[in-house]
Amino acid sequence: MEKTICELFAGVGGFRLGFDRLDSGWHTTWFSQWEPGAKTQWAHECYIKHFGDCPDLNGEYHTGEDIGTVKKESIPDHTLLVGGFPCQDYSVAHTLASSKGIEGKKGVLWWQIRDTLIAKKPPFCIFENVDRLLKSPAKQRGRDFGIILACLNEQGYSAEWRVINAATYGAAQRRRRTFIFAYRNDTAYANRSNSRSAEEIIGEEGFFAKGFPIKEIGKLRSITLSEDIVDVSDNFAFAFENAGYLHEGIVYTVGVDEIEEAPTLLRDILQANVDESHYITTDKMPKWTYMKGAKKIPRTSADGHEYVFSEGPIAFPDPWDRPGRTMLTSESTLNRSTHVVSDPGTGRLRLLTPIEAERMQGFDDDWTNTGMPNRMRFFCMGNALVVPMITRMGKVLDTIIVEEP
Ligand SMILES: C[S@@+](CC[C@H](N)C(=O)[O-])C[C@H]1O[C@@H](n2cnc3c(N)ncnc32)[C@H](O)[C@@H]1O
Repeated sequence: MEKTICELFAGVGGFRLGFDRLDSGWHTTWFSQWEPGAKTQWAHECYIKHFGDCPDLNGEYHTGEDIGTVKKESIPDHTLLVGGFPCQDYSVAHTLASSKGIEGKKGVLWWQIRDTLIAKKPPFCIFENVDRLLKSPAKQRGRDFGIILACLNEQGYSAEWRVINAATYGAAQRRRRTFIFAYRNDTAYANRSNSRSAEEIIGEEGFFAKGFPIKEIGKLRSITLSEDIVDVSDNFAFAFENAGYLHEGIVYTVGVDEIEEAPTLLRDILQANVDESHYITTDKMPKWTYMKGAKKIPRTSADGHEYVFSEGPIAFPDPWDRPGRTMLTSESTLNRSTHVVSDPGTGRLRLLTPIEAERMQGFDDDWTNTGMPNRMRFFCMGNALVVPMITRMGKVLDTIIVEEP
């Protein structure tokens, strides 16, 4: 099997860098990255500067366009489809034309992945999403993830998933993400999995158990998925745990405890002698103190109901002896979630530098120093993933691929 990859929602190339670092022959044949509504496509430019562009099967270049406008049949063949896609409303209805067809909401990116699966049938996939995917939406918990699993099942795939906190496996950031590893039911890997129990797969033998070992596994629960995706959309609700396995329409889930490895601490990624522009000026201190502090604010909801919005304090500054918190796209703006550190050299409070943001995500220093403003460097890092997590997954995939004919 060729070690080829297609990277959807590529951002600045976190998946690609993760696989390239393995140096085991992975080659990306196509990618797609387009920021809706943005005049300058900074992430696409950054990606191209590092890796160059990729023609499609017609010899045309469409990597920097809305994936919704791309004919999936023209995407080059690949063994592995990867992508970090957003948590959106995946509900569907029957199309007017046919009760068998389904129609999701416009702009929902999961449907682009499903279209790619239908057109290209890649044997293996790795997808990344936020941890709340498993619990969305609030009114029908688990529906959206149920729809994703039902689509994979419908297209002839089995899947394993794990919610992984990158800090547990050595990263400098407490970032919890849902990772899904899906594989076609006609692969040798699927054949081997068939002879194993769900407990064995989730606990020891599966993709995530191999790459991200666990110490304890709870009590397994299961549910059968309807084959009708509209039925799943209308009626499915399930309390998914942080690990699970889908095979032939049956979903198994269980809570697992991870084996913690020594994390990288915030102090390990801090730079010395940073530019004065990163420091918090005295006039801004009251605003920062307010943002980070506890508050109780009387508010009125849209329907006229009065309530008190309250939030507790968060560490200010962020402690050096822990990994950082989850980095968001608003990192470095005047925002409660922005990291503030006491500079190791001067002792004064400052924000992270773009290089420190890159280090928190495990990218090379200056990865996004490709001409974009600092604000966009933070934005791209907030969108990205923790690269060493992908390299770890790639190592496991290497052992799987060698067994494929
Ligand atoms: C969660 S980020 C993934 C970041 C990536 N994993 C990385 O390491 O940088 C999702 C990406 O999808 C892109 N995107 C959103 N809508 C898109 C569309 N319609 N077509 C192509 N890309 C899109 C966004 O610009 C964003 O960079």
